[in-house]
Amino acid sequence: MVSNRALRRLFLGVLGSGCVQLVAALSDAPTVTNYLRKGQTSATLLGNYIYMDGGEISQLTNGNINLKDRLSNQVNSTISVDLSTSWTTSNVVLRTIPKTGPIKNNVVLWTDSSANTFYSWGGKWSWGKNMADTQLWKFVADGSGGGTWSVQDPANPSLFNNLIPAESGAFTTVNDTGFMIGGVASGWTEKNRLKNQAIPGMLAFNMKTKTWYNGTFAFSPFESLSGASAHYIPSFGPSGLVMVMGGHAPSVDTEPQISISPFFDLGNVTLFDPQTKKTYSQKTTGDVPPSPRSGFCTAGFKNTDGGYEIFVYGGENQRDLFYYDDGYILSLPGFVWTKVPQSTAGPRGYHSCLSIGNRQVLSIGGVNGSWIDKDPAPQGLQLFDMTSLAWKDTYDANAASYEAPEVIKKLYSNG
Ligand SMILES: *[C@@H]1O[C@H](CO)[C@@H](O)[C@H](O)[C@H]1NC(C)=O
Ligand SMILES: *[C@@H]1O[C@H](CO)[C@@H](O)[C@H](O)[C@H]1NC(C)=O
Ligand SMILES: *[C@@H]1O[C@H](CO)[C@@H](O)[C@H](O)[C@H]1NC(C)=O
Ligand SMILES: *[C@@H]1O[C@H](CO)[C@@H](O)[C@H](O)[C@H]1NC(C)=O
Ligand SMILES: *[C@@H]1O[C@H](CO)[C@@H](O)[C@H](O)[C@H]1NC(C)=O
Repeated sequence: MVSNRALRRLFLGVLGSGCVQLVAALSDAPTVTNYLRKGQTSATLLGNYIYMDGGEISQLTNGNINLKDRLSNQVNSTISVDLSTSWTTSNVVLRTIPKTGPIKNNVVLWTDSSANTFYSWGGKWSWGKNMADTQLWKFVADGSGGGTWSVQDPANPSLFNNLIPAESGAFTTVNDTGFMIGGVASGWTEKNRLKNQAIPGMLAFNMKTKTWYNGTFAFSPFESLSGASAHYIPSFGPSGLVMVMGGHAPSVDTEPQISISPFFDLGNVTLFDPQTKKTYSQKTTGDVPPSPRSGFCTAGFKNTDGGYEIFVYGGENQRDLFYYDDGYILSLPGFVWTKVPQSTAGPRGYHSCLSIGNRQVLSIGGVNGSWIDKDPAPQGLQLFDMTSLAWKDTYDANAASYEAPEVIKKLYSNG
């Protein structure tokens, strides 16, 4: 919690400040000095801009932790970052865009690049505060780093009105369709909901026709799923494949208890064909990341040899209650894991990763169990070069195209 020294400083600050405003305003994008931690923020890429949405942030104001409010506060704006020029994690410009949509954590984002639009579904209202009716929200980008929010009505309201919004499902976008697999509903994910419940199966939304599908019985690779990651690999199989890994399978019939529920070992990943709805499981080898693992991030890169690499970083072990600080690359078609050098910014979970600027991963936010332990990464941002396998604090707008790192190329030339 907050130290006595911080309390004393706050007290002295009040006495000494006369008629100056006692508590400085919180910011959705604090300075590098004031930034402490951010978690459960989702992110996507549209054109030359990254958009970050939702989550909670902790920060200093006047050198102190604000005791008037909670340690972490909702991020009330959508934030964009320009990728057309290089920046460092200390001088990056975080543009705040006013948000009319619901202020939530852990939202699902589905991206329709062709329409410069993303959709926000599910997630939770922090502490169940200021909850609103269930709606799908849409952000239309203006092409220059701004954009506007509005409600997207469903084409099939009768199905939509019976859907249960949830959080912690695995989500991805496949061409025009957004998928969400599993998830857990609670009194913070839906207004007036009385019980916690794992949501069986899979949900789909067609962003062109605005039609919703509940695929629980028609198609679903899992009965239940929480904390896993789904990633669409466009270049494998006739219509691409969705890879699902990690997370837990909480019971659908009783109160979900994630920590003691069965988990999915990363030595065995699931592939879902979004066209045929068929599911396959695939054994992986190499430096298999330890499990259980939830709330980690993934980012994918197509290489020049026709293969594909998926970066996996951090997450929480919800059984033994600690956060991971390790990163890995799963290389396809070999399904071989390679451990990458460790980030010096420490363990984290509930962060987001994006593949940006040809060969770079951007990791956004992440918590290690405490809101007052300042993130060693400025603004909670870290970059990783997928070819040189190096962590860095600079985004390079002119980075060369992605090529598999030597250590991964060798796997194939020796095999
Ligand atoms: C966001 O808005 C809520 C409600 O007005 C407020 O309590 C919270 O402090 C705001 N968050 C930030 C980071 O300013
Ligand atoms: C889909 O339908 C099944 C069966 O009625 C239901 O249990 C599940 O909650 C529905 N999914 C969603 C996301 O509402
Ligand atoms: C997605 O789009 C690509 C390119 O148009 C196409 O080859 C692929 O079959 C589509 N996949 C699905 C599942 O619709
Ligand atoms: C991999 O996981 C699936 C379920 O997701 C299971 O059916 C299959 O038996 C597992 N395979 C191995 C080799 O453990
Ligand atoms: C992360 O949290 C754990 C447990 O609270 C703590 O032991 C560890 O020192 C923290 N790591 C960092 C880098 O802050």
